Amino acid sequence: MHEPLLSLEGISKGFPGVQALSDVHLELRAGEVHAVVGENGAGKSTLMKLLAGIHQKDADVIRIDGREVDIDSPRAAQELGISIIHQEFSLMPDLTIAENIYIGREPRTGLGLLVDDRKLNRLAADLFARLGIELDPRTRVADLLVAQQQVVEIAKALSFDARILIMDEPTAALTESETANLFRLIRDLRGEGTGVIYISHRLGELKEISDRITVLRDGEYVDTLPTAEAELPHVISLMVGRHLAAGSRTRQGPQTDRPVVLEVRGLGDKGLLDDVSFDLCEGEILGFAGLVGAGRTETARILCGADRADRGQILLRGRPVKIRTPADAARLRIGYLSEDRKRFGLMLDQDVGFNILASSLADHANALGFIHDGPARRSAQTYAEQLRIRTPSLRSEVRTLSGGNQQKVILARWLARDCDVLIFDEPTRGIDVGAKEEIYELLDRLAGEGKSIIMISSELPEVLRMADRIVVMCEGKVTGVLDGAAADQRTVMEYATRSGAHGGIAR
Ligand SMILES: Nc1ncnc2c1ncn2[C@@H]1O[C@H](COP(=O)(O)OP(=O)(O)OP(=O)(O)O)[C@@H](O)[C@H]1O
Ligand SMILES: [Mg+2]
Repeated sequence: MHEPLLSLEGISKGFPGVQALSDVHLELRAGEVHAVVGENGAGKSTLMKLLAGIHQKDADVIRIDGREVDIDSPRAAQELGISIIHQEFSLMPDLTIAENIYIGREPRTGLGLLVDDRKLNRLAADLFARLGIELDPRTRVADLLVAQQQVVEIAKALSFDARILIMDEPTAALTESETANLFRLIRDLRGEGTGVIYISHRLGELKEISDRITVLRDGEYVDTLPTAEAELPHVISLMVGRHLAAGSRTRQGPQTDRPVVLEVRGLGDKGLLDDVSFDLCEGEILGFAGLVGAGRTETARILCGADRADRGQILLRGRPVKIRTPADAARLRIGYLSEDRKRFGLMLDQDVGFNILASSLADHANALGFIHDGPARRSAQTYAEQLRIRTPSLRSEVRTLSGGNQQKVILARWLARDCDVLIFDEPTRGIDVGAKEEIYELLDRLAGEGKSIIMISSELPEVLRMADRIVVMCEGKVTGVLDGAAADQRTVMEYATRSGAHGGIAR
């Protein structure tokens, strides 16, 4: 029997107030895709950060090819052939794609003083050609969509030719075709003997891509199963420590008698949006489906004052309104949960309570004023509990929370604000199975209380389950508005790839 490529034994790691990992073990074989799953805060990312030399262990033994190694810095990890794709994006927004990928190892000009830009861009272009990625390496990262940033992160990790590749939720921001692309790459790597550790909350993916599955719960090792023998409901029960019933559709579908709250008429935005029109009714959940770049996020950003449209009209309860800034949107009681939590959502250095109660930049002073208020703190506490945000206290800095729990903080913020119109952009991205159900229930309840909800999601099953009606977009246009109770995956995909055409309108 060969030595495993990588073996971890007795891994423990504590942070103030939390034991993130205790006595965890894991083994990775060459040419294996090993999935690691667990609820938000289970310790997955912490384990990977130890391997990548970002955190220092409290106690552990790490072996590569049977030889004990010490990973005390990211450089040490790199030299051992370990490469990581982070859950949180780590790219520099002001640098180009190529600069980001080769940061710290740029090719130099003759005398070695200057970065050789042409060579740099050519290196990146070659890498992209090899990986089948269609992006211009000279583009600034700030100008990329979240999904494109994700692709760059992946390309960067692959550029190291690692023997051990760690992927921490690589597909969270990807659509199906991009995911399929990634899986092809992973299979190639596996064929070459690379070991891949694969973390995902999209449990359906595990069957497709992994060889074995290790489950963590509350920082402890639970079990390792060969994927071929693992039943998904069983894996889920190992993750959450109880049996979890799969939820089913509870929404009714379109209702013609409800008052219209928001009317969007002919929105246009510099080639990004073309004549986008739809209505949102009171108490409705309006799903938005489409491929990345279809214009869903752009539409949302205009509605919340983050971007301006060139053309078109927005009416709120029949009255035309101008939404020029996020503060305008907030005044009109329109809330937006951004898909990019790091850039537009969280203040990482502030505590959890502050982040829940802070609403928009314009309101900060205000939030600071009332944040010590007993009732406000209590309402923050209520939402934190409702969403089961895992944090030692409301005073912990948001940066110390796990990825999924950070996402829940933003959700809690919009709930605490009591908006009439709530726009959720990928509300369950990075959220574990159990918490997803809780979020669905919450959305249901909010709609039941008369809130009007726009839910943008790339996970079709989620849209099909939650939406009363589904607006499908393609290349900046609305291609159809479907009855959520009657639509199926195939129909939605048809409209999502139907550029130009106008589809049936369900109301
Ligand atoms: N730098 C830190 N300081 C303090 N606590 C931390 C820090 N990093 C992680 N933690 C805590 O360690 C625990 C495990 O977090 P980790 O990020 O590993 O979870 P995860 O399994 O990756 O969850 P998710 O699915 O949400 O990404 C959490 O309770 C988290 O709050
Ligand atoms: Mg994580």
